[in-house]
Amino acid sequence: MNKNLFIAFEGIDGSGKSTQVKMLSEYLMARGHKVYTTFEPTDSPIGTMIRNIFSHKMEADHRVIAGLFVADRLDHLLNAQYGLLKKLEDGYTVITDRYYFSSYAYHGTHMSIDWVIQANALSADLLRPDLNIYIDVSPEISMSRIQKGRESTELYETLENLRNVREKYFEAFEKQKDREKVFIVDGNRSTDIIASDIVKKVAILLEAEK
Ligand code: ADP
Ligand code: TYD
Repeated sequence: MNKNLFIAFEGIDGSGKSTQVKMLSEYLMARGHKVYTTFEPTDSPIGTMIRNIFSHKMEADHRVIAGLFVADRLDHLLNAQYGLLKKLEDGYTVITDRYYFSSYAYHGTHMSIDWVIQANALSADLLRPDLNIYIDVSPEISMSRIQKGRESTELYETLENLRNVREKYFEAFEKQKDREKVFIVDGNRSTDIIASDIVKKVAILLEAEK
């Protein structure tokens, strides 16, 4: 039997991840794949606590946030009902909007990136993406997209932070280059052109799995 794929989308806030997750899942479903799309932070109780911190309803130290993401991710993988390991076992292709590279990049700007990688080692051992797709958008463009769409900004959504996060993503890709498959796509273009690059890459993966 063919193994179904697990694909993680990555990028700074406003880079177009949710748009591309939707486009890729529609493409795959039209070709007969069972697709489960998901996101982190999740909407479980742990993910909800994280979202309350981001929307300034609660306060927490950056190290606590990094720890909450470790727990949210493990629940995302292991939960008996909605866990990703179960979804893959049930025959779904799984596409997630953010996974552990988000932790490396976002928390690596506030604390040791090696600690963050180590803290997520259990998740990486349980499930490594067949492909990490990084949508590369300039922090300026991404800030203008975020500000257009909303009245308030979240905890990590400042231009300076997004610049640091983008740098940390590239540092993390370099550190993990022997272990991880990363596809970097230029996100400063139209949604259709980006989607077509992504589809081409995923089609190669699907061909290889046959
Ligand atoms: P993310 O999930 O990474 O935060 P979204 O997909 O929600 O990003 O996109 C953020 C905003 O930018 C949305 O208003 C979306 O319609 C818009 N957007 C997404 N991709 C593009 C693109 N390639 N060009 C212009 N605007 C885009
Ligand atoms: P998300 O809802 O994906 O925001 P956006 O659609 O704007 O990209 O993610 C919310 C925030 O969570 C985002 O600022 C990135 C942050 N985040 C972390 O700090 N660590 C993590 O491990 C993950 C998955 C997300």
